[in-house]
Amino acid sequence: MGTIYEKIVRPVIFATTDAEDAHHNAVQSLAILSKASALCRIMEHFAKPSGTRPVEFAGLKFPNYVGLAAGMDKNAQFWRAGAAFGFGHVEVGTITAHAQPGNPKPRLFRYPEYEAIINRMGFNNFGAEVVAAILRKAGAHAIRPIPLGVNIGKSKVTPLEHAVGDYVQSFNLLADFADYVTINVSSPNTPDLRKLQGSAYLPDLLGALKDADKSRAEKLGTKSIPIFLKIAPDLTFPEIDTILASIAEFGINGIVATNTTIARPFGLASNETGGLSGRPLRARSLEIVNYISRATAGKLPIIGVGGIFDSSDAARLLDAGAGLVQIYTGWVYRGPFLPAEIARDLAPRQRPWIS
Ligand SMILES: Cc1cc2nc3c(=O)[nH]c(=O)nc-3n(C[C@H](O)[C@H](O)[C@H](O)COP(=O)(O)O)c2cc1C
Repeated sequence: MGTIYEKIVRPVIFATTDAEDAHHNAVQSLAILSKASALCRIMEHFAKPSGTRPVEFAGLKFPNYVGLAAGMDKNAQFWRAGAAFGFGHVEVGTITAHAQPGNPKPRLFRYPEYEAIINRMGFNNFGAEVVAAILRKAGAHAIRPIPLGVNIGKSKVTPLEHAVGDYVQSFNLLADFADYVTINVSSPNTPDLRKLQGSAYLPDLLGALKDADKSRAEKLGTKSIPIFLKIAPDLTFPEIDTILASIAEFGINGIVATNTTIARPFGLASNETGGLSGRPLRARSLEIVNYISRATAGKLPIIGVGGIFDSSDAARLLDAGAGLVQIYTGWVYRGPFLPAEIARDLAPRQRPWIS
């Protein structure tokens, strides 16, 4: 079968356009669309499953289960258009305290036969101050059409010993625009970043960000913001146990599982370094979501992400204990209408508005 996108549009784009150029073109087009709010509202009307109650997750309400994973809208340029494609939330970023160009190109590679991507972008982004200005200009401090997650990471120039201050700086600049903040300690493309998942660094980082949130809430007289931790799929279960203990100790509100993998499953033959996403990641993300859900007796809110290409993939993650799901690579391979399709198929799980 396959859609027109899969049969015609994607093959033409893949054959004629370098992966990063195609990404750039998509972001530019989406940024233009996001400014056409009337058109976005019309598209949203057609994309949205109607008559369902919101999904509750970590104390927030989401119109459906499906979100856009971090990394596509790194600089918060098109999040307003998310609902037009059926997304129930968008996570922007990763944003770092300092603006940075990322790794040298080429740094983004497609593997259509595996429905996979390898990337070593390296947190190319405008920096927290500029992204905060973009979000303010787009009105994100006042009205957000769907919940907005802001994903923050460590600047490459900042040594691990000063990582806490770097994250807190980004948190303080960006929290006003976010419904939740995700702490990214799991990208494989910033040297040593994943060490922040270990017990030598993680407790200090989580404690400092919770303190920053508390101070902000006291100062502004507002509610505190849910903080989630995004983890790697390459952790062992004992390592995950240690992380879960820190999450419990500091009252972190949820976990995003998972980021890309440095493993190369299913014989994917590539010499490119970087994080692998898409189809080959699906089994491992599911396994990790399952593990976390059991280990926390279903009490820790989990966003399941990794290798979702259709409604069954998403449903399996929800069945394993995820409360929401996110997509990145599936959107590239299956096309713009995938989130709306999945949201519609999962809508029966949301209770209807009938009493
Ligand atoms: C090109 C690319 C860039 C990414 N950049 C980020 C990022 O900046 N921050 C982050 O937390 N995750 C990033 N990710 C990881 C995704 O958010 C997601 O966790 C991962 O790709 C697994 O989901 P998928 O299989 O649906 O793509 C990136 C993924 C890709 C493919």
